[in-house]
Amino acid sequence: MTTPIGIHDLAFATGSRVLDLSVIAVRLGTEIEKYTIGIGQERMSIPAADEDIVTMGAAAAKQIIDRHGAEGIRTVLFATETGIDQSKAAGVYVHQLLELPTTCRVVELKQACYSATAALQFATALVVCDPRQRVLVIASDVARYELGSSGEPTQGAGAVAMLVAADPDLVVIEPGSGVFTSDIMDFWRPNGRVTALVDGKYSIRAYLQAVENAWNDYSAQGGFPISEFNRFCYHQPFTKMASKAHRHLIKTAGGDLDPAVLDAQIAPTLKYNRVIGNTYTASIYLALLSLLDSDEELDETKIGFLSYGSGSVAEFFAGTVQPGYRKHLRSEENRSVLAARVPIDASEYLTWHERRDPTELGDFALPNETPGPFRLAGFTDLKRDYAVTQ
Ligand code: COA
Repeated sequence: MTTPIGIHDLAFATGSRVLDLSVIAVRLGTEIEKYTIGIGQERMSIPAADEDIVTMGAAAAKQIIDRHGAEGIRTVLFATETGIDQSKAAGVYVHQLLELPTTCRVVELKQACYSATAALQFATALVVCDPRQRVLVIASDVARYELGSSGEPTQGAGAVAMLVAADPDLVVIEPGSGVFTSDIMDFWRPNGRVTALVDGKYSIRAYLQAVENAWNDYSAQGGFPISEFNRFCYHQPFTKMASKAHRHLIKTAGGDLDPAVLDAQIAPTLKYNRVIGNTYTASIYLALLSLLDSDEELDETKIGFLSYGSGSVAEFFAGTVQPGYRKHLRSEENRSVLAARVPIDASEYLTWHERRDPTELGDFALPNETPGPFRLAGFTDLKRDYAVTQ
């Protein structure tokens, strides 16, 4: 029998500020129900001035290192589509902030919102080769669209860290997956732009097409029948997208289309994303965290994962929740982090939106705002200066 491999620990961090979508609705003269019902979003996390993908990723990963130590970690995979440097991997800063051993490889992965799933699959393969090793996977992103664009209500910020190991405490990643790639332009962010460009309606259609193809490949590869899955985690650019994708998957796979059944299969996965907003690479694993932190008893539950990244790549795979998983969660702390975010008003939101990294050599200090364990203190000659705050 092969050793089960999967997610041994799972932690998250998010921007310490929060914007209620009513602020955007008022500015744009939109009915709030378009957001709360039509796209399924209520609030979005916003990073403080000294928070970015590194500080959020490190804050998520610190919880894992504090609990498990760094022993056996020889690889850190950092997935993001909002990278902060064209050359240096953001994970190298995290490696330093967490004081991980130098006997470690660190690399950044990119393919829109999909790359954390590539990181998870690569991590499981590394552990298959050597079950003594553990791999730290980090997914961290800040989603920003142009003011007034259709994407504006679907912004957000957050990070997830996962420790991938043999005999995991939380979720075994089952071997085999269905994959799909198609060169399309539904969402992209050319070099030099801080806001993404998106053809939203096309992206929805492309996502559904990818769901269908990834599932068909999963079936052709001999995966579990749809009837074996009890819960489903989707990439959620906005939570209503998960409902659309789920209905399409079940229709494609020939499952039960009763609306109450469909809703029960995904409802607990939507709670965190609904109040955090889009976290790109982290979103599907925030969906998993939302499910695990829910009141449901999930021992031995088979979860279907559908990961989609515009451009586009998709993957369907299966995970099995481990008996006793609940005693390894941080559910109360997670809910406290969300409740502790500081609400911002319209003018603070616009200030955040105008924020840009410096483009000239010189010293540039940032205000001390974050309550988190790490901060971006500023820039020296375009080098990012990170600091430990606690
Ligand atoms: N009450 C309730 N629902 C309402 C409403 C109201 N007052 N007004 C509109 N709606 C519904 C619409 O019927 C629609 O629902 P449907 O999709 O089920 O038909 C939904 O709200 C959205 O309305 P729509 O007019 O399509 O919104 P939009 O043109 O502003 O675009 C998105 C919405 C989601 C396409 C847009 O926000 C976007 O592009 N987001 C980014 C998506 C993304 O990141 N994609 C890439 C990664 S997958």
